[in-house]
Amino acid sequence: MRVDTGQVFKLEDYRPSEFLIPETKLTFNLHPTKTLVQAELTIRTRSGQPPNAALVLDGDELELRSLAINGKVLDAASYTATPDRLTINELPQADTFTLVIETEIAPEHNKALSGLYRSSGNYTTQCEAEGFRRITYFLDRPDVLSVYTVRLEADSKETPLLLSNGNLVERGPVESGALDSGRHYAVWHDPFPKPSYLFALVGGDLGSIKDSFTTVSGREVELGIYVEHGKEERAAYAMDALKRSMRWDEEVFGREYDLDVFNIVAVSDFNMGAMENKGLNIFNDKYVLADEATATDADYAGIEAVIAHEYFHNWTGNRITCRDWFQLCLKEGLTVFRDHEFSADQRSRAVKRIAEVRGLRAQQFPEDQGPLAHPVRPRRYREINNFYTSTVYEKGSEVVRMIRTILGAEDFRRSMDLYFERHDGDAATIEDFLRVFEEVSGRDLSQFALWYHQAGTPSVQVAMRHDADKREVTLHLEQALAPTPTESRKRLMHIPLQFGLVGQDGRDIAAKPAGDGVEGDVIHLRKRHQTIRFTDVSERPVLSINRGFSAPIMLAMEQTAEDRIFLARHDSDLFARWQALTTLYTQALTQAYRTIRGGGTPEFEPALLALVGDTAGNEALEPAYRALALSLPGEGDIAREIGQTIDPDAILQARNALVLAIGSANADGFAAIYDEMAASGPFSPDAANAGRRSLRNVLLDYLSAPAGDVKRAASQYESATNMTDRAAALAVLAHRQSGSPEAVAALADFESRFRAEPLVIDKWFQIQATVPGTATVDTVRELMRHSGFSIDNPNRVRSLVGTFAAANQTAFHAADGSGYKLFADAVLEVERRNPQVAARIATSFRSWRSLEPGRQDKARQALVAISQHKDLSSDLRDIVERTLA
Ligand code: BES
Ligand code: ZN
Repeated sequence: MRVDTGQVFKLEDYRPSEFLIPETKLTFNLHPTKTLVQAELTIRTRSGQPPNAALVLDGDELELRSLAINGKVLDAASYTATPDRLTINELPQADTFTLVIETEIAPEHNKALSGLYRSSGNYTTQCEAEGFRRITYFLDRPDVLSVYTVRLEADSKETPLLLSNGNLVERGPVESGALDSGRHYAVWHDPFPKPSYLFALVGGDLGSIKDSFTTVSGREVELGIYVEHGKEERAAYAMDALKRSMRWDEEVFGREYDLDVFNIVAVSDFNMGAMENKGLNIFNDKYVLADEATATDADYAGIEAVIAHEYFHNWTGNRITCRDWFQLCLKEGLTVFRDHEFSADQRSRAVKRIAEVRGLRAQQFPEDQGPLAHPVRPRRYREINNFYTSTVYEKGSEVVRMIRTILGAEDFRRSMDLYFERHDGDAATIEDFLRVFEEVSGRDLSQFALWYHQAGTPSVQVAMRHDADKREVTLHLEQALAPTPTESRKRLMHIPLQFGLVGQDGRDIAAKPAGDGVEGDVIHLRKRHQTIRFTDVSERPVLSINRGFSAPIMLAMEQTAEDRIFLARHDSDLFARWQALTTLYTQALTQAYRTIRGGGTPEFEPALLALVGDTAGNEALEPAYRALALSLPGEGDIAREIGQTIDPDAILQARNALVLAIGSANADGFAAIYDEMAASGPFSPDAANAGRRSLRNVLLDYLSAPAGDVKRAASQYESATNMTDRAAALAVLAHRQSGSPEAVAALADFESRFRAEPLVIDKWFQIQATVPGTATVDTVRELMRHSGFSIDNPNRVRSLVGTFAAANQTAFHAADGSGYKLFADAVLEVERRNPQVAARIATSFRSWRSLEPGRQDKARQALVAISQHKDLSSDLRDIVERTLA
């Protein structure tokens, strides 16, 4: 485990490496506890002169076996080797030399799942960000690019499959004299220079499905997806998603695949979702395996998105990589933008956009407004693993989207073409990226660049006035950006706001702006205060602004409930229409919260309840959209709206009261639509069918809200023919009718049906971990002893422990502190094995300061208890100390 050293890495300290490694030849002799790694590195000085300083290579928990330069074994005096560093003081007086390093590692004992490790008896690697240094000593930094040749040797029976990056060069039995050694080998060569974090190998015994893809220029690419034996059929959807991704990248970004092979391997122990290793993507099996009996529609959508994301990295990340880890958003933010656009094109754009914004608000906004806030491009880090955040990813993607909004689709594409052409083969920076947009469009993006450099969510206030006599509309806009932990003073941002002035017929009025600040349907807010006038407007319009969520801001608009209801019914922008309804929900919920806190009983406007009913039945809208329109803000969303001294119990009560009110006001209509949405034909995971299921399941939740209304959910559970409907019914029973015989029976049935399917048991864990109320603290404690749980497996830990803390406000924040205690103990237990996963789930403490004083105190105690542990990993210490600061 990498223990915290207190070292801080700073962007301004970046220096190019004095040494380069143009060529890397690796030989692995794979063994569970004694894997020998030989690295033959061609080292060259950057200057072209003999070296004038020591060569310092990175390591992490390494054991050096031998060291030789130009074929001569080094004597002990000429180097020092520690587990985390190899320093060679005496180097040849030449600009190029060959270094051979032998290390020995034990993949079986590697529970951190970084470097080379074993999962279900297979060998696999994870090298991003700094895992390669757990395999051999190296210049483990993304700006050192090398051409890799990899020879793998292993037991032929136990490990028949041997994969690495690039193309297979040769394979065969390992001869030992005249005898068959029982071992075999394979040699792989990747012609594209790459940073060490993109290295991968897989050794094991796996089943596979094969396919092929013909690129736009007619090259044939062999595609393979490797999964546990017996699960091959469940990889079909992933393969289909891969081929669609390859085609889409050609059509939309002009990007063609560049190797003869593209392999994907699914493993069941994986710290993240998936990894884009060149030509050999390695996936958490949750993002590969799906069939109707075991995967939900959300799982299918996740597979499609992650397959696309990792594939798209081939150009945005691999062909053009990052100069240093401060530039992480260069590949991640951009690639998220690309996978979002892909999913929008494959499914429904409006539905996709709403889902993205909900995710952004649920994850990124709290991060940006709490103690862990950091810019999309950070300037400092203690532990890089902790910067794979929703700010770098999702806000990073929003920034790219804003660039496209500002430039328009055409200039955006021309700029991207220039980026690919100019930087192919480079380790680039955000400045390089921004430059292509400036050059192509002739625009000055220096103020806009602050989106990369300043943390925090800007807020914008808007007011609209209509002067009937002057036939004029005036918009007043004001922006503000609150201080964040590392930046007290903020500069003004360039905020692109898509807008429309909606006339009484629901159509946008073609209003003429007087003065600058408006281009087409985009307002460019650049100053603190900005006033925009539109002339020639006779009727009073309703303002629709931040359409499509063109900027990731918090918007406060003076607008009446009538105007919002009007937008919720008529706005031509479907995102804005959804937003108007969501704002109405939020207002109703915060008001109900206050009423409950004051000891009263909340009531809701009949106009709102009727609007919801009408929206549910509006056949001009696709079912998936209607489902989103019926989904109330989550407890976390309501908490953020309230801001301070939060009482999670009152939030849950307020939300339940609104669910009941909407459900009872629309009971008959909802029941009719529920029946109408029942499946007719065979199962298909496509967007239209998934949308019908999602609408039906949202309605099931409303219809099952009244105490004792278990029938519909129980019968849906029993008759379900796919996992989406079964899991949804189970969740409704467990959450709405917790403790009822029907809920208890369904939970037991689910467990016995799916005991042998870990990914399905994860759903069972999640559903139980999110049952509202403090009793769930004990449930989670018990489930941690369930035979299907494993503290070593990240998917199990996330499903049970992670979900509990991230998605169960009333149990995690139990007033007596028992939820925090349980969680803190679990985090420490995970940390001893897997610091990355522990640190990630520990971020659930991030909003502790917004709680009411009693809970705040209990949460702080739990955080302090973690921080007082000695020998804390750098991962967990970094998170806990920033959270407490
Ligand atoms: N490069 C990352 C995976 C990664 C991140 C590995 C950090 C090791 C450390 C990959 O491209 C990625 O971003 N994966 C996401 C899923 C994606 C769809 C956003 C993930 O794993 O969560
Ligand atoms: Zn990525």
